Formats: sequence, structure tokens, C-alpha cells
Amino acid sequence: MKKLIWPILALTLTACQDKLPERSTANLHELPAPELGESWTPKNDEQAQNILAHTREIVNERAATSGVMNRDAHPKAHGCVQASMTIDNKNLPAAHRVGVFAQNAKTFDAWVRFSNGDPDGAKKPDIEKDVRGMAVKLMNIEGSESGSQDFLMITSKEFFSKDGDDYLKLFNALTGGTARLALYGITHPLSAKRLLGARVKIANPVKVSYFSSVTYKLGNRSMRFKAEPCAATAETIPANPGPRYLQERLVQTLAKGSACYNFYVQPNLDPQRNPVEDPRQIWDEKKSPYIKVGTITIPQQTGITSAAQTNFCENLSMDPWHSHPQTRPLGQINRMRALIYKEISRMRHEGNRTTVLEPVNHTPCVGATAALCETPKK
Ligand code: HEM
Repeated sequence: MKKLIWPILALTLTACQDKLPERSTANLHELPAPELGESWTPKNDEQAQNILAHTREIVNERAATSGVMNRDAHPKAHGCVQASMTIDNKNLPAAHRVGVFAQNAKTFDAWVRFSNGDPDGAKKPDIEKDVRGMAVKLMNIEGSESGSQDFLMITSKEFFSKDGDDYLKLFNALTGGTARLALYGITHPLSAKRLLGARVKIANPVKVSYFSSVTYKLGNRSMRFKAEPCAATAETIPANPGPRYLQERLVQTLAKGSACYNFYVQPNLDPQRNPVEDPRQIWDEKKSPYIKVGTITIPQQTGITSAAQTNFCENLSMDPWHSHPQTRPLGQINRMRALIYKEISRMRHEGNRTTVLEPVNHTPCVGATAALCETPKK
């Protein structure tokens, strides 16, 4: 059905978007930063609550058939792998040496979770086009309330929703049948174009680039960030791809050797053309160049598909608001995520009779975080 639906979305008509200039915070984390282009109104609170209510319903419905309460988005993991990130801030202007980028040559231990984005993806073969995810959790971060710095990235440079209003309309369209979805595509052509473009086929999760897609704070500026494989290697999709070939490729690659990513920030030097409240816009890389700020190393390893590590991967909570305040998420989409990720993580852990915990090392199955490796229970 989706094969028929998505092309309809590509039809072009003018989108109509409202500006929401007022300042309000309601129940979400930090005050909005209008000086960085953030806007938030009580209407956005309503939208966030609305999206959360729908998400809860969907997660509950799926759990009723599968017996396990999975993530609403990115439920299909290729695996969680041990990693580290070493900071290299020598090319970063002094004002931007904040949060985890403050100290040159500092190495943080990390976990990386690779995933497919489709909410129904657990049932779908990897060969289907999808948004792919790479979520990096740096551990033991001073100044971060959760103790972690999570960088959530997808295989798309731009996001497909403008703001809270647009996201809610897409969400309702996706769950409202073909006619509603077609109407959304016709009235929101840029969002539809971005959504279609975000869905890709890949050969190996550790051989492609991932992007923040939405905007974050970098001291006194806004930024995007990305992770790019250290060496470009051409890899083709297998001739007869199994339903989990991306996990197979991940396991095979790391059994033979290590993987490496260069991590970049892109300080926003042109806020007029790169508005925080429209992450669908392309940022000109000549005007706002990427600056390398670190290297993510994923060492050679085995055990990725062991029962304990699979449970750990399921029980992990990646959240863009697990952050140092100086690199916190920005914009309406991100502010909605503040409410939704926390609540959906809490709900699925409660539903699976497991515990929300943050790992602090590469041996999470022993000691205080051992519950992270328990089997989710019906
Ligand atoms: C309002 C917009 C969004 C909503 C409502 C939403 C919702 C969610 C939810 C509910 C989860 C599962 C959280 C959990 O149970 O622990 C999730 C995971 C994820 N989301 Fe979003 N999301 C949004 C925007 C984005 C954006 C802009 C990105 C771009 C990077 C993104 C990337 C991811 C990734 C990579 C994961 C998987 C994290 C993991 O590996 O555990 N999402 N999202």
C-alpha cells in the first residue's frame, strides 16, 4: 500500500505554514531561546500532548499483538556496539568549545545503536527503503543531568517536518488512511519530498553517513552535526539479501576489524537562511562549513547478537535531551521529543517489566545496571 501512497505525496502544491512567535515553556525542559530562533506557544504544548497520546495508543496496540512493548520509532535494531569518541577541537572556535567538545583529546566511552526507522519495521525486511538510524550514547558526561550525551542521527540531512503543526498533520495523515495521506502530500510538498528522500536502501550500517537532521545548540549558536565513515568504501547490497542482512553485515564487519567515523559539527553561520524552526531547509555548506570535532571508534568485537546484548539494546533509552545544556536540542520538533521520548521509554520499560537505566561502562550486565540486560517480559 505504501508503494502507492508515497508517490502521491510527491505532488507539488504550495504549503501553508503558520509562524508561532510567542514564548512559552509549559512542561518542557529549558526555556526556549528566541535569540537562536526558537519559538514555542501553548498551542505547541497541545500538539505535543496530542502526538504523545497517539504514540501511546499505537505502542499499546502493537504490544497487544507482539507481546513486547517496542520503541514507537526505530524499533528494529541491527545491534548495539561498544564504541568510544575522542574529541579533536583544535579547529573549533573557542566560543564553540562547549559540552563534550570542551576538552581536546578527551575520550568518552560510548554505545552505538544502529536501527531502521519504520515503526512497523520489526516485521519488514532490511531491503525495503527506510530511514536508517545511528544513535550514539557517550557515557559519564559532567554537566548532563542524565549523565549521558546522546547524538541521535538518521541517514537524511534534512528532517521532513517543519514544526509541531506540520509533524502533527503528518502523523494524523499517516494513521488516517490513503485519502488523508494524499491530501497531506498535496498540501505539504516540501515535507513530502523530504520524507520520500529520507527513505534509502543501504549495504552496511557502518559504511554510511548519518545526520542530526534537526538543530541543536552549540554555545551561542545553533548547529547540526553528522557522523561520516573515516574511509569511503564501496559496498554493494547482497544479491539475495536476507531479512536481517544489515545485522549480518554489521556483525561480519566488526568480527574482522574496527569501524571508524569522523564526527562533525556545522555551526549555523546564516540563521536567516537556516531557520531553527524549519529543519527541512538545506544549509549551504560553503556558508556554514562542517568542522571535524572528533572520531568515533567502534573496535573489533563479537557478542553483538548475544541474548544479553540484544536485551541491553532493547532496554536502552536514547534521547536527544540526554545532553549537556550547552549542546541541547533546539526547535519545536526537538521540544516535542523532550516529552515524547521520556514518556515512551518509561511506558515501554514499565510494559516490559524492565528498568529505565543509563549504562556507565561497556559491561552493563553486571553491577548496578544489570537490569538493562534482562529479557523484556510480557
Ligand atoms: C516530533 C518528532 C519525533 C518524534 C515524536 C519521535 C519519536 C521517537 C520515539 C517515540 C522513539 C523511541 C524512543 C524510546 O522508546 O526510547 C524514537 C527513536 C528514535 N528517533 Fe525519533 N522522533 C522524532 C523526531 C526524530 C528526529 C528529528 C530524528 C533525527 C535524528 C529522530 C531519530 C530517532 C532515532 C535515531 C531513534 C532511535 C533511537 C535508538 O536507537 O534507541 N527522531 N523517536
